[in-house]
Amino acid sequence: MHRFTEETARLAEAVFQAALDRLRADPPPLGRPASADELSARAGPTITPRGLGPEGALRVFREVVAPATIPADHPGFLAFVPSAPTKAAALADLLLGVSSMVGAGWIDGAGAIWAENEALRWLADLAGLGPGAGGCFVSGGTAGNLSGLAAARQAARERRGGGPGRWALVTSTEAHSSIRAAARVMDVDVVAAPAEDGRLTAARAREALDRAGGAAFAVAATAGTTNAGAIDDLAGIAELCAERGVWLHVDAAYGGAALCAPSVRDRFAGIERADSLVVDPHKWLFAPYDCCALLYRDPSVAPRAFAQEAAYLEDANAAPGWNPMHLALHMSRRARGLPLWFSLAVHGTDAYREAVEAVLRLAKEAAEEVRRRPALELVREPELSVLLVRRRGWDPRALQAWCDRMLARGRAFVLPTTWQGERVLRLCFVNPRTPLGLVRELLDDLAAA
Ligand SMILES: Cc1ncc(COP(=O)(O)O)c(C=O)c1O
Repeated sequence: MHRFTEETARLAEAVFQAALDRLRADPPPLGRPASADELSARAGPTITPRGLGPEGALRVFREVVAPATIPADHPGFLAFVPSAPTKAAALADLLLGVSSMVGAGWIDGAGAIWAENEALRWLADLAGLGPGAGGCFVSGGTAGNLSGLAAARQAARERRGGGPGRWALVTSTEAHSSIRAAARVMDVDVVAAPAEDGRLTAARAREALDRAGGAAFAVAATAGTTNAGAIDDLAGIAELCAERGVWLHVDAAYGGAALCAPSVRDRFAGIERADSLVVDPHKWLFAPYDCCALLYRDPSVAPRAFAQEAAYLEDANAAPGWNPMHLALHMSRRARGLPLWFSLAVHGTDAYREAVEAVLRLAKEAAEEVRRRPALELVREPELSVLLVRRRGWDPRALQAWCDRMLARGRAFVLPTTWQGERVLRLCFVNPRTPLGLVRELLDDLAAA
């Protein structure tokens, strides 16, 4: 299994060809989920004493596994938050997979960690976090939020020389579910401030902090809510956090990409005062899954929350250099920031600015298209690239059935959401290759159906 043989060479050629075919697919097939029973029936037994052989395993991958997934880079994938890796980033990921780089500590991962840090520096500078900022890449916004908030609590414990009976964090009712999940895992309370038109205002955050009293260790603000793309009043909340001596965590997992877009950069004013910040390049910064940038304004507190001590780690922990394993809840780690770095190095940051601006323009044009159709109504003006659309005269069942039809026809993967108690259609754009023509077709169909 570990020697490079004639068979390995043939498998490598077949895998590279499959990868090339996938890179060229424009668009890739939309795919369709299937039940586990259907998939087992199509594939037959796959984990067997003698194995399927290279052709057999690759056949199952190509004919059973891939077609039962909906690729997040399909231009019609407009549900959740899609992903649209550049070809360079996808290829770097392929290379990373065969390179056995461990991005845990400088002692054996220096080169990979240096490259990841170059990409982190770009993000920290876009946010304006200052020269001392740094962090690491974790698997996703959920892991990033948990680690940022755990570091926040550590900082509060140290500052106060202990803690209250129970800690609490303040966030908005529109914050991503991962903030509440992190609170559950950390066994801290959530004091939720009501969002106004999707945003947390400083006034509401102040009321929530007052309710939390001395238990509050952090405010978790959102720069680009998942549901509507709304950006909290970061400047006002940052001022409040400074006044109260409370950590400001900013979840910019989705919206943070737009920090590089001059047309909307001013909406993020105040983000430079975040104590921790999360941006997911696997969302709108064209990196493959899984990739979340976790940044701290002052990373020095993080090792006291996360570093692991063990006899076999003594050399690694004592070695000079940057150790991502000390900066979040993980140890062994894929250098998952490397594909982002590679793509940035290939294309340059101007190309990123242009691509993000193109998506913002697409969202604006799509909003105009909605306004042109009397059967449709724009629920709120898009701040970033999420569109909420009301189909007049339809109940939630009709809307869901329309979404199902779009997938069944291989046109698009779209889903409804709930906005202020009402089921509406939600379209999330991150792919610069989503054509306006496709959006028009979908809206025509929605309006006419
Ligand atoms: C604002 C926000 N935060 C956090 C997350 C969670 O990210 P992940 O799915 O990478 O864990 C998401 C996911 O959509 C998000 O939109």
